[in-house]
Amino acid sequence: MTELSVVILAAGRGTRMHSDKPKVLHELAGMSLVQRVLECAHKLNAEKVCVVYGHGGDAVPVALEGSDAHCVLQEPQLGTGHAVQQAMPHVEDETNTLVLYGDVPLIQPSTLHQMLKFDGGLTLLTVHLDDPAGYGRIVRNHEGDVVAIVEEKDATPEQREIREVNTGILLAPTRLIKSWLGQLKNSNAQGEYYLTDVVGMAVNDGIAVQTVQPGNTWEILGVNNKVQLAMLERTWQKIEAEQLLKQGVTLADPARLDIRGKLECGRDVEIDVGCIFEGKVTLGNRVSIGANCIIRNTVIADGTQVAAFSHIDSSVIESECRIGPYARLRPGTMLHDEVHIGNFVEVKNSEINVASKANHLSYIGDASIGSRVNVGAGTITCNYDGANKHRTIIEDDAFIGSDTQLVAPVTVAKGSTIGAGSTITRNTPEGELTLSRSKQTTISGWQRPLKKAKKQ
Ligand code: UD1
Ligand code: MG
Repeated sequence: MTELSVVILAAGRGTRMHSDKPKVLHELAGMSLVQRVLECAHKLNAEKVCVVYGHGGDAVPVALEGSDAHCVLQEPQLGTGHAVQQAMPHVEDETNTLVLYGDVPLIQPSTLHQMLKFDGGLTLLTVHLDDPAGYGRIVRNHEGDVVAIVEEKDATPEQREIREVNTGILLAPTRLIKSWLGQLKNSNAQGEYYLTDVVGMAVNDGIAVQTVQPGNTWEILGVNNKVQLAMLERTWQKIEAEQLLKQGVTLADPARLDIRGKLECGRDVEIDVGCIFEGKVTLGNRVSIGANCIIRNTVIADGTQVAAFSHIDSSVIESECRIGPYARLRPGTMLHDEVHIGNFVEVKNSEINVASKANHLSYIGDASIGSRVNVGAGTITCNYDGANKHRTIIEDDAFIGSDTQLVAPVTVAKGSTIGAGSTITRNTPEGELTLSRSKQTTISGWQRPLKKAKKQ
């Protein structure tokens, strides 16, 4: 098969977004529009991907740093044909060139694979729309062959009646595209160099022009303003939710779920309303997620239950744990089987072993906690001395009384009991009760102060 070059057009201003950010850097489902198109190009195994940028200075190349996309500046922006022309010196003649739009983010590889089956001619991705307003129309002759694309502003009233429109996405041998672009003129209603004029040139050269339709109409919808961006976001979220439902995931309401990345679920997973999943999240069998949880880059194993309003970021949670409500698990949290983390407990960069519990109002940072440990309400690891972070180690079967401060670095040995209200600054001995607490006294006969009588 002929090698593939992809040119992604992303130089347009995006005036109607009313934003200082270039249009293609706005995000859909947690990823910028252009990044989505780039990801699609990678799935086609393109040999080279060029992104034509213009408005917004270096913002687009900076955002794409680290990717293998070749960014090409188009300055000034003189039309879609002119844009593709800027990329042409960077692509090899023997390849096929596929033109994609940076602001058409939901195009799917399956549709583009249909186009790639045609090798040699000019292949257009077209679609029939009930309302074709704004799009270039596909003009066919009596035999049904495509003879031209006419932009709406240049179209006759009869041509405007045509419902088959140009999505803008096309494929042709690079060598031919180069020769056609060299002949482009800007004598049209918009004074631009139209990429679409290559269709007439192909017809003149006796090159076959064929059309392919997308698998779904939403694949070719573009983003020109925030209304369209929001609508496409909903379209995508609906598709994601339907996929989960078809796999057997129970969603309390498929319209109240947001997946900004990739969510993998085992069997009998239940997700309540208002949850957001970011990055890569994996949920094992029988995991249940309560309402309004935000979970990012996390793996949760079988049977674990996360109650409402919990935030979990970059954590690993093993089986049969109970998390929340209102728990916060920050990056580097590792919970082994059957751990319980309750309301208003924050855990960061800490490992908690099997069946340990911290059920109320605690901060556990930079700690290693053994198995069957009970962390009482209000316990805090004082991990930061203002300059450096230190670790707290709590060994198996320890019992930490409520409202304890553990001043790190410190180790609470196996089986230790810490009396409530203690400030622990030194390592505690195994199996003993340790506490630091001033003695309770009673002042007998003490009187509460009385309010002074107000002057009349
Ligand atoms: C274009 C097509 C039209 C098609 C429509 C689909 C042409 C002449 N017309 O029209 O047939 O129905 O898309 O949405 O091609 N861009 C650049 N540099 C430029 C101009 C545009 O990079 O100088 C980029 C834009 O950022 C955008 C894409 O090309 O991603 C399309 O440009 P736009 O101005 O929206 O073209 P339309 O007039 O909508
Ligand atoms: Mg457009």
